[in-house]
Amino acid sequence: MAALLQRPHAAVLCLSILYLTGGMSIPDPKQREALIKQESSMQTGGQQVLTDAEQRLNARLLKMKQDEVEREEFPPAMHFFKARELIRNSPIFNFDTIIFFYFIIILLFTISGGALHLHDFSMVDVEWLVKNATYRPHCYICFTSRSVRFIFSSQQPKPLTNCSSWTLLESLRAKTVNTTDLDNSIMGNLTLFTDKDPEAVYPTQTVVWSIFEETFQAAYGLVTYAPVFKDYFYQGLSQFYMDNVMYLELRAILPEIYDLDGRTYDRAWTLKTCQDISRQFVANHPDFVGVRIIFTAKRTINTNTMLKVVEEAMKLYRDFPDIMAGFDLVGWEDGGRPLWYYRDALSLPVARGVPLPFFFHAGETNSQGTEIDQNILDALLFNTSRIGHGFALTRHPVAKEWSRKYGVAVEVCPISNQVLKLVKDLRNHPAAALMSENHPVVISSDDPAIFGAFGLSYDFYEAFVGFGGMRSHVGSLKQLAINSIRYSSLTPEQKEKALSLWQRRWDKFVSENAF
Ligand SMILES: *[C@@H]1O[C@H](CO)[C@@H](O)[C@H](O)[C@H]1NC(C)=O
Ligand SMILES: *[C@@H]1O[C@H](CO)[C@@H](O)[C@H](O)[C@H]1NC(C)=O
Ligand SMILES: *[C@@H]1O[C@H](CO)[C@@H](O)[C@H](O)[C@H]1NC(C)=O
Ligand SMILES: *[C@@H]1O[C@H](CO)[C@@H](O)[C@H](O)[C@H]1NC(C)=O
Ligand SMILES: *[C@@H]1O[C@H](CO)[C@@H](O)[C@H](O)[C@H]1NC(C)=O
Repeated sequence: MAALLQRPHAAVLCLSILYLTGGMSIPDPKQREALIKQESSMQTGGQQVLTDAEQRLNARLLKMKQDEVEREEFPPAMHFFKARELIRNSPIFNFDTIIFFYFIIILLFTISGGALHLHDFSMVDVEWLVKNATYRPHCYICFTSRSVRFIFSSQQPKPLTNCSSWTLLESLRAKTVNTTDLDNSIMGNLTLFTDKDPEAVYPTQTVVWSIFEETFQAAYGLVTYAPVFKDYFYQGLSQFYMDNVMYLELRAILPEIYDLDGRTYDRAWTLKTCQDISRQFVANHPDFVGVRIIFTAKRTINTNTMLKVVEEAMKLYRDFPDIMAGFDLVGWEDGGRPLWYYRDALSLPVARGVPLPFFFHAGETNSQGTEIDQNILDALLFNTSRIGHGFALTRHPVAKEWSRKYGVAVEVCPISNQVLKLVKDLRNHPAAALMSENHPVVISSDDPAIFGAFGLSYDFYEAFVGFGGMRSHVGSLKQLAINSIRYSSLTPEQKEKALSLWQRRWDKFVSENAF
């Protein structure tokens, strides 16, 4: 370390000698080599010892990555909406989809403040929602100035403020000349993805967040209909499973679910339903580990409501220990209340001696030095188990040190951060710095359906090719997979089991692809 600290002086000295002597004294190449090795060993996966087969796989992967870097249009430098097609056709992505059977910690089901019932569905691609959910009988639609709303009802539903009158979709489709156009238009209402120039459509964070919230509201009436909810959840698990994801931690508002006759179901019912479906999915797919749910509230509600929600969270955590992982606050951080505003409610579990793990979103911001920017430190003060996004972490040395020391992992969501306008070029994502020093990180996809992504592969591509650069390798991928198990909310025994399940699939993959 002392030698390292002295380097800058030595460099200045070398430079001046160089200047004076015309280049007679270049730095010692052996020392240079040693420093390069040292840095490389400090990164995520830098300590992973690769088998012969893994080294052969690594050589193939790095060759592909090199080709990718040399492309004229480098996808991680572009907006994801423009890059998606390029990524999809790149050999490394198609390779990726095979590798990434990761245990992930996902920031699914995110939603934020504003109107009354905002909820959270971004698990299944919007095509399924339109082609399957809206084609079921009794589906009504109405049109607002910017978007659409849905409801399933056995009779004409009561009118909704600021929406046209409810029309039965079946009759609307019968009257429509080209239903493909209608369906495409509805799909457009359910996603942020656009073929137009994303910079022009979403010029500011305020604009992109307001439309982001619109997409959740549009999906709300579809996904909270009990029969759709069950199929949607199962379908969501299938889509992640197809993307080689073996375990999920989902953030969920746990909305009130309704039936055709107007009956409604509470959060305990919803949680129980998720648990049953998850168990059924695992029974049908024995190599899938399962799902746990982080119950969330919006960061715009008042303090009294927050007290009630935290109390309910404590109860749900007690009653559903298998599926319920903990609690979080969601929504646009810059547009919401800081964590400290809710300090009474968030202290309730400790004050009452009742366990409730926290998984706070924090530091999803570029507003340095504001109250909101303080969230990252406050999340740690409230003993958060992980940090959602943590985009601002590298600008908080104390929080960063703490997160490292206590293993509070950062859930990095590259595409989300780009689409929601925190960073343009994903080579500049702050996680590059975190990964260069093996900070505890996991890669997540936030709301893949709304960003026009799928599962987890696109985000892994951005991490591995974008901010991973030529530095990250097969060892980094292994480490990220291991991290996602290690920093999950599973029990130590479950982690052990999950790790051996993952190792088997990994070894099989390596043996099939190392040549
Ligand atoms: C929708 O999906 C469910 C479950 O996968 C399936 O049983 C049903 O037939 C589908 N319905 C339509 C209209 O595609
Ligand atoms: C969404 O729905 C509204 C109709 O209420 C429409 O004006 C708008 O163009 C649709 N599409 C998108 C991409 O928002
Ligand atoms: C309806 O629209 C008006 C005008 O834009 C707005 O002030 C009001 O809050 C809206 N009401 C609801 C229930 O969204
Ligand atoms: C309907 O519109 C789509 C897209 O605009 C077009 O590709 C398709 O050919 C049209 N179908 C019919 C039957 O006109
Ligand atoms: C956080 O954990 C520390 C150490 O276990 C404990 O003293 C403190 O009360 C906890 N604080 C909160 C807000 O949970």
